[in-house]
Amino acid sequence: ILEGDVSKKKDLQIALNDICKSTYKKLLNSDSYSAVLYGVCLLENNPLFNAGTGSKLQKDGRIRMSAGIMNGDKNIFSGVINIQNVKNPILVADRLQTEKHTIVSGDKATQLARDLGFQQYNPLIQKRWEEHLKKIKGNTGTVGVVALDKNGVIVTGTSTGGIGGEIPGRVSDSPTVAGNYASKFAGISATGIGEQIVNSGAAVKIATRVEDGMILKDAVDKCITDASKLNYEFGVISISHKGDIYVNKNTDSIFYAWHDGENIDVFNY
Ligand code: GLY
Repeated sequence: ILEGDVSKKKDLQIALNDICKSTYKKLLNSDSYSAVLYGVCLLENNPLFNAGTGSKLQKDGRIRMSAGIMNGDKNIFSGVINIQNVKNPILVADRLQTEKHTIVSGDKATQLARDLGFQQYNPLIQKRWEEHLKKIKGNTGTVGVVALDKNGVIVTGTSTGGIGGEIPGRVSDSPTVAGNYASKFAGISATGIGEQIVNSGAAVKIATRVEDGMILKDAVDKCITDASKLNYEFGVISISHKGDIYVNKNTDSIFYAWHDGENIDVFNY
């Protein structure tokens, strides 16, 4: 999923198709955790997407990125908030999976990345700099991957460069359980206006409803219907332990791709 620049529709669809295919191949050769890390890295590395390389700038002209990964089998969420100058925030989030303290923010997250050996990297691209100079503000911008493997393990990963032009240090939904959540029953990754996703408790609430017996589609639809009543704008990609794949949104320009083992397809609204 991602914030879609509709003028780049064709490029986005081609990129998503390729990334979906190679992420699925990785899933077959490894597991859902490795596949999610791999898929999110590919999205972070592609400057078309607002995460990692190609991230938007905050109001003070600095890029601060956030990412979260959750292992639904181990029930562990880890993440980084407002990390700077790393290539793949999701890989730093990954390194926190096995730590006692699993979510780290700001300068200390960047310092932690250096201590762990992550190289200094500038994720800025020309287009984002020009948008910043023109004070072009977005509302959204996120990439995410959800996967279920042959052992029934669900993993979700979500990464973002934020909305652009936001107050320095703003925290998005992506490194929270509202924007990224996996359980033994469902995995959900959200994109849209972070504050509204947090207010909705979106991802964790959908997973809880599925655990309590609701089918994935109904749980997601309820979340989006409730959001619409509040004029909130966001969307989610999701997967259940039964292998159901479902996407719903109430905002434009969300692109997504899915692979169910037999079919692959790429969509945008
Ligand atoms: N969903 C991304 C953000 O609000 O920053």
